[in-house]
Amino acid sequence: MIRHEYDAVIVGAGGSGLYAALEASRTARTAVVSKLYPSRSHTGAAQGGIGAALGNVEEDKPEWHAFDTVKGGDYLVDQQAAKILAEEAVRAVYDLENRGLPFSRTEDGRIAQRRFGGHTRNFGESAVHRSCYAADRTGHMILQTLYQQCIKNEVSFYDEFQAIDIIMDGNRVTGLLALELATGELHLFTSKAVLFATGGFGRMFRITSNAYANTGDGPALLARAGIPLEDMEFFQFHPTGILGMGILITEGVRGEGGILRNRHGTRFMEEYAPTLLDLAPRDMVSRAIMTEISRGNGVRGDRKIDDYVMLDATHLGRDVVYEKIPDIADFCKTYLAIDPAEKPMPVQPTAHYAMGGIPTNVDGQVTTGAVTYEGLYAAGECACVSVHGANRLGTNSLVDLVVFGRRAGRHVAEYVKNASMPSIPPGGEERGVKKIERLRDGRKGPHVGPFYEKMQETMMAKVGVYRNAGPMSEAVDEIRRLREEYRDVRTEDSSSAFNSDILGILELENLLDLSLVTAASALNRTESRGAHSREDYPERDDPNWLKHTLAGLDGADVTIDYKDVDVSIWKPKPRTY
Ligand code: FUM
Repeated sequence: MIRHEYDAVIVGAGGSGLYAALEASRTARTAVVSKLYPSRSHTGAAQGGIGAALGNVEEDKPEWHAFDTVKGGDYLVDQQAAKILAEEAVRAVYDLENRGLPFSRTEDGRIAQRRFGGHTRNFGESAVHRSCYAADRTGHMILQTLYQQCIKNEVSFYDEFQAIDIIMDGNRVTGLLALELATGELHLFTSKAVLFATGGFGRMFRITSNAYANTGDGPALLARAGIPLEDMEFFQFHPTGILGMGILITEGVRGEGGILRNRHGTRFMEEYAPTLLDLAPRDMVSRAIMTEISRGNGVRGDRKIDDYVMLDATHLGRDVVYEKIPDIADFCKTYLAIDPAEKPMPVQPTAHYAMGGIPTNVDGQVTTGAVTYEGLYAAGECACVSVHGANRLGTNSLVDLVVFGRRAGRHVAEYVKNASMPSIPPGGEERGVKKIERLRDGRKGPHVGPFYEKMQETMMAKVGVYRNAGPMSEAVDEIRRLREEYRDVRTEDSSSAFNSDILGILELENLLDLSLVTAASALNRTESRGAHSREDYPERDDPNWLKHTLAGLDGADVTIDYKDVDVSIWKPKPRTY
C-alpha cells in the first residue's frame, strides 16, 4: 500500500473537478485522482454551450435565466441556488475567457451566443440567445483550459486511478483508497478534504450519450458509506441521440434552427410546445418523440433498432452546418454515413444526465440538511445542489460545473486552512482492501458482460422516458437479483497491470447500486414531474410531492426520506411552453 497525505483530494478531472482543484490549490496541497487522463473526461462531450445572460446578441438578464431554470426543473429546483447559478454564470464565463478559452465570436468580436431549449427572454416570451459556445466543442475547450491552468498551479495529478472507498471517521472524512490501474497497486490518501466530481451514471441505460467511464463511482461509494442520495428518480433523456448508439447530437442544432420531423415530414413540436417548438425543455421534447412513435408516426427501425424521428438541418445551408456544428457533421458522416447538410439525421432519446446525486449545499459541502459531513464535498453532475430539480435545461450542466466547482474549491481552500490533518481510523482501509482481495481470490464466477446487458435493458425498458408502477417494481426486483448474483463475480484476468477486468467489475457494482436507488426512488414518487413521467400518475402533485427525495442504500433495501424544496422566489405554476 502506497501512502500519501494532502490537504485536499479531488476525485475526478472533468470540469467541476478541475475548477475545484484550481481554486483549492490557492491554499491547499491538492491532488486530483482520476480514472481517466483529464482531457478525456466526459465534460469534453458537452457540445452546444454554457448558458450565461451576457446579452451579447439580444437583451438578457440573470433573473430570466434563474426563472427558466426553476420552471424548466418543474419547480423542484432550490430557487436561491438557481439565482446563484444564473448570477455567477456571467462572471464564470468571462473568467474562462480570461483563462484562454477560445469561444466562437460575434461579428463585433464578443462571445457568440445561440438559443437553447427552455431558455427564454422575459419569463417565457420567446427563445433567447444565451448559450455561449465554442462551435460544438464547448466542453472540450473548458477541459483543455482548466487542465492547463491546474498544471500551471502545480496540482498533483494521479491519472488512471480508480477510487475504491471513502474512509470516514463518524461524519468526518479522513481519506480515500484508490487503485492504480497501471500497476494494480493500492494507494491510501489521507486528506483534510475529499471532493467528489465523478460525473454521471448514464451507463445504467442501454441507449446513452454517456462515456463508458460514467459509472457513478462517487455517489455509489458514498451511498455504501451510508450517505443518502437526493432526487435519484430524475434522469434526463436528451431528445437527440444518434439512432441505436445514443451519441449526442447537440441541442445546438435546434438552437441554430434545426427542426424535428416525424415520418410524414411534419414538424410535430408545433402540437406539443406551440411557443418554443423544437426548443422546449428536453423532458417535453423526449416525451413528444416517444408519443409520436407510439402513435405510429415514427420512422420504422429495423428489428434491432427502435423507431425514430428525423432531425432536419438541411435548410440551414452547408456554411452554417460546417461552421456552427462541425463535430456533429463529422459524427454523422462517421457513424451514419450521412452528411447533415444534405440529409436529415435519424435520432431517438438517449439517457443523458442525472439530475440527482450527492446532496450538497451551494458551497459543495455534502449535507442532508440534518447532517453535514465534515471535509466532504461534491460538485458537478455527481452532486445535487439542487439547481436542476426534475429536469435540467441544456447548457446548465456546464454552468453548474464551473459555478459550483469554483465555489466548492474556494470553500475547500478556506476549510483546510484551519482544519487539522485527520488520522485514518484503525482498519479504515480494510473494507476496500478486502473487496479487491475477494475479486482476485482465484475462484471462478460469472462474467460481468451479461450483468451489464440485463441491467441496461431493464433500466431502459422499465425506468425510461415513460414509467409505470408494474414495470418499475419488476425493475427493482430484477436489479436486486443481479446485485445478489454479482457477489459471485470474480476477475478472470489475474494480471496486475491495466487489469480492465477488475475495473469493469468495480464499475458494475457502482451502477447496480445506483440503478437500485434510481428505480426504487422512481417507484416511490407517485406523480409526474419533469423527467419523471408516470403514465399511472400523469399529474404533478404539489401538495404531496413538492419535496426532494433522500434515498439511502441499506443492503438490499432503499430507505426513503424527504427534504424541503426552496420556493422562496417564484410560486410553482403549471408549465406551458
Ligand atoms: O445538447 C447539448 O449540446 C448538450 C448540452 C447539455 O447537456 O447541456
